[in-house]
Amino acid sequence: MNRCEIGIIGLAVMGQNLALNFARHGISVCVYNRTRERTEAFMRERVRGEPITPADSLEELARCLTRPRRILLMVQAGPAVDQVIEALLPFLEPGDLVMDGGNSHYADTERRMEALAARGIRFLGVGISGGEKGALLGPSIMPGGTPEAYALAEEFLLRIAAQSEEGPCCAYMGRGGAGHFVKMVHNAIEYAFMQGIAEAYDFMKNALGMPADAIAETFARWNEGTLNAYLVELAARVLRYRDPETGEPLVERILDQAEQKGTGRWAAQAALELGVPTPTLTAAVIARTLSHFKADRERIAAGFPWPDRRSEAADPSAVTDLEAALNLTVLSAFSQGLWLLHEASRAYRYGTDRTEVLRVWRAGCIIRARWLIFLREVLREDPEDPHLLFHPRFRQELQGRLPAAGRVLARAFEAGIPMPALRTAVDYVLSMRRARLPANLIQAQRDAFGAHTYQRIDRPGTFHTEWEEG
Ligand code: 6PG
Repeated sequence: MNRCEIGIIGLAVMGQNLALNFARHGISVCVYNRTRERTEAFMRERVRGEPITPADSLEELARCLTRPRRILLMVQAGPAVDQVIEALLPFLEPGDLVMDGGNSHYADTERRMEALAARGIRFLGVGISGGEKGALLGPSIMPGGTPEAYALAEEFLLRIAAQSEEGPCCAYMGRGGAGHFVKMVHNAIEYAFMQGIAEAYDFMKNALGMPADAIAETFARWNEGTLNAYLVELAARVLRYRDPETGEPLVERILDQAEQKGTGRWAAQAALELGVPTPTLTAAVIARTLSHFKADRERIAAGFPWPDRRSEAADPSAVTDLEAALNLTVLSAFSQGLWLLHEASRAYRYGTDRTEVLRVWRAGCIIRARWLIFLREVLREDPEDPHLLFHPRFRQELQGRLPAAGRVLARAFEAGIPMPALRTAVDYVLSMRRARLPANLIQAQRDAFGAHTYQRIDRPGTFHTEWEEG
């Protein structure tokens, strides 16, 4: 009964939708879930003649698969992945392939890959983006591991991936934990993009006094231009939705505490460890963390007046500035993410082709955006450019938007609106364009209080000065 071409373990919505996606592309699937009821419900409620076979145990699943086996884990990232691998191992043979399609930490993926390699089992860390709908209709897929392991899965993954004008949105991301690293950076950019959008909403609502419908219209209009992106379109859709009970925009009834599952934080940690500046990606994580202190914010707000100046009349020029500012946030965030990928690929020897990363993000994933076409064009001219900031066309896009971004920030300050994503995006650009930063004073002070030494700009060597007078 070796008839199924791929096994899927874990039938939460993502697992279910991927199973249906494979099956609808003519790939026979064997599915297993820890609780049998969920498998039964899935078979009963969602499978309509697709080639999907349920298994009651991991042993049965392993028996059901063609050799070498291909098994995709769609279980919650963390210890559950290790537990499933442990339970599955007795039924696997050398040459089989296990893929982890969750948002696992890249270091865990590397550890698992090594442990399984010792037993002759291949392992891929597969970043999958696109949410529930993407899983069903075509996700963006970021697999990493050995090229041999990828070769075993490639044909199947290409078939279920989202399609863009530049081909299926799946490509080999590199060795080791590269697939999950790329997905983690995707998510960090997702955080920054969402924070930038949230700031624009805050600005329109509280500095310009625009109602939710007008804000939705603005996002919808921006989505027709350079800001054409899934998240911008989604912002418009979400803002338009009215709460059936109150008739008010539902978004205004939602508690302002943003959750996070960890991928954005991991990216910030990885960036700090690798010594790559990703201020906007990190600011977006911090903004979510800060939002959690609702009770503290309420108490502080009550005793902390601020002019909170807001326009009474519609202000089209401010909205035009804001559009430029959000573009700048997005470009800056991508630049930072690309730099992080560059450094990770170098340090961890992933061999990631970032032009392929940008291509894979073109469709299916949450950060899909028109800008990706431009970014890829620019990066292809010099694939070793760490952050694109040397590129004249990229520089022009940023430079042209800086004055507008500055005006938005000034106005936001007057209105008491925090814009950490925009502010860090601007500061990142301003810092990177400065040939001389004030770090010389930091070095002098380090040397003065701790004899940490410094270097000079006018001669080589390492210096220390007795700074104390007299
Ligand atoms: C995707 C998303 C997906 C998930 C995020 C949410 O690419 O499809 O990134 O993986 O929705 O991880 O992350 P938070 O819960 O941390 O916002």
